Amino acid sequence: MFLKKNKKGIWKKALGKTQGKGLCVIAPMADVTDNAFREILAKYSTPDLLYTEFVSADGLAHPTGRKRLLRDLEYTKKQRSTSPVIAQIFSGKPDNIRQGAALVQRLGFDGVDINTGCPSRTINKQVCGAELIKKENRELARKLIQAVKEGAPKLDVAVKTRLGWNEIDISWIQFLLEQDVDMLTIHLRTRKEMSKVPAHWELMTEIREMRDRISPHTLLLGNGDINTKEEAYAKISKYGIDGVMIGRGIFKNPLLFDADRVPSVKERYMLLKEHITLFEANFGPTKRNMKEFGKRIKSFYLMKKFLKVYVNGFPGAKEVRNELMQIHEPKELLDNITATLKDI
Ligand SMILES: Cc1cc2nc3c(=O)[nH]c(=O)nc-3n(C[C@H](O)[C@H](O)[C@H](O)COP(=O)(O)O)c2cc1C
Repeated sequence: MFLKKNKKGIWKKALGKTQGKGLCVIAPMADVTDNAFREILAKYSTPDLLYTEFVSADGLAHPTGRKRLLRDLEYTKKQRSTSPVIAQIFSGKPDNIRQGAALVQRLGFDGVDINTGCPSRTINKQVCGAELIKKENRELARKLIQAVKEGAPKLDVAVKTRLGWNEIDISWIQFLLEQDVDMLTIHLRTRKEMSKVPAHWELMTEIREMRDRISPHTLLLGNGDINTKEEAYAKISKYGIDGVMIGRGIFKNPLLFDADRVPSVKERYMLLKEHITLFEANFGPTKRNMKEFGKRIKSFYLMKKFLKVYVNGFPGAKEVRNELMQIHEPKELLDNITATLKDI
């Protein structure tokens, strides 16, 4: 872990570095933006801000759960030196999220984000994620945000949310803007809409005007359905916002943050090989993992899901992918890719 002095205002600095273009940020994605994939992004694509996966602050407060979750809060020097790295946490308990935020600060992250948008029933049952959008939970939401600020006084504090629970609820956005946070990211869909309908970008102007009125210093990011950097900059300039967050777009082009550069076939295989190697070094049956947990800590299946990202966009890709999906051993998959690379 690399402990460096945390400073408030680091995101505004990152915005300044974009020379007026606005922030293009990788969205937090569970089992996607882990230490391995963040390394690939930092090395080859460089989003303006990097995000961890969401991490349970209740789990971090738990004596046994903590050890495993701390692994989700690892990052490398490379990541921190290319972009600020933000840890996303969630909890429905102010004491736990305060402790979680304090830990995030101690670990040296460049900010902390509170998840108030996750639609998963399991998470919502714990009065976490999108459950906090409900009007009856507003006081709790206020306390949670306050607790994070108390826990991590040296860090920038962000909230990521959705537009509403069943219906669009602008009063929720207004409420969040009144909480004086450093950044607010809005996934422009309700919880009910999941990711099934187009994001409501038509509401972005109204929300930006509200931000200008209520909390002009809060950075405002929009999120939903952006697949290219070109689209990202078009949205930023059309709505006058500070940036956008991109999630699933990265599955279509892992290098999109590098000015939409499309990787060659050779590059795709090289990226895949490096990603598998990083994945295994972090989550495979390493000495460290075997000593601490007695097993690998992430299923190799989660890595294989990335085959669709890399083995894609060239003739015959689907057939090759189907073949590679049948390989269950990391070493065998790596050998196969090495052999393919010799022929390219
Ligand atoms: C696989 C996956 C995992 C996700 N995990 C998280 C998460 O941990 N925290 C979070 O705030 N949002 C999470 N999201 C939501 C994304 O951050 C983003 O808001 C959503 O995908 C919409 O953006 P997009 O249309 O650019 O994909 C996840 C989305 C996907 C597809």
